Amino acid sequence: VTQQQQRPRTGSNFQAVHAAIIAGDITAEVAVVVSDVPGCKALDYAQAHGIPTIIYPGSTSDTKLSPDELADLLRVGHRVDYVLLAGYLKLVPLAVVKAYHRAMLNIHPALLPAFGGKGLYGQRVHKAVIASGARFSGLTIHFVDADYDTGPILGQRVVPVYPTDTPGQLAARVLKEEHKAYPEAVAALVDGRVTWRQDGIPIMWHAR
Ligand code: GRF
Repeated sequence: VTQQQQRPRTGSNFQAVHAAIIAGDITAEVAVVVSDVPGCKALDYAQAHGIPTIIYPGSTSDTKLSPDELADLLRVGHRVDYVLLAGYLKLVPLAVVKAYHRAMLNIHPALLPAFGGKGLYGQRVHKAVIASGARFSGLTIHFVDADYDTGPILGQRVVPVYPTDTPGQLAARVLKEEHKAYPEAVAALVDGRVTWRQDGIPIMWHAR
């Protein structure tokens, strides 16, 4: 198993959201792309499209930012209103979580609250789903809080798990749905079609 298979972070969700912006389906622009993996595909793509990039956490004294500096750079430096995670495997620093309360989403390739948490990412998620014998899996889009995969659920989509599935086959089936669901959720968020139930559960309304 290559590292790429273990950590399938190809930037494809970012590209799907960016494509939806270009198509006019999301009224927004990508202000900046943040990654912890120098040279990853999302950063290459951003650079090719003239989108500013940040490495966080950086490894050299030039690139090292404190959590507060990162939050300021996003809010003030790049005027970012919403933060979207896709394959960012590190915990987001609390200063950024607080700065983007109800404004930061993550996408997870399984049906939370099952099959999530620290260490459950990429092929590991799909292996665990297959091992459990679950007949359905899917994806979850949720707001980000201070822990891994625990924030309020905004949307989910279901895909079947077949008896002969390999983790790679299941991952591909889920990812295809991710590319449709994430842009839809982002559009709802920026359109103001997300409301909050009194108990803290978000509701996503469909466009008329
Ligand atoms: C996706 O499966 C997403 O659900 C998970 O990480 C993967 C990122 O894939 N959080 P990509 O980089 O968007 O292709």
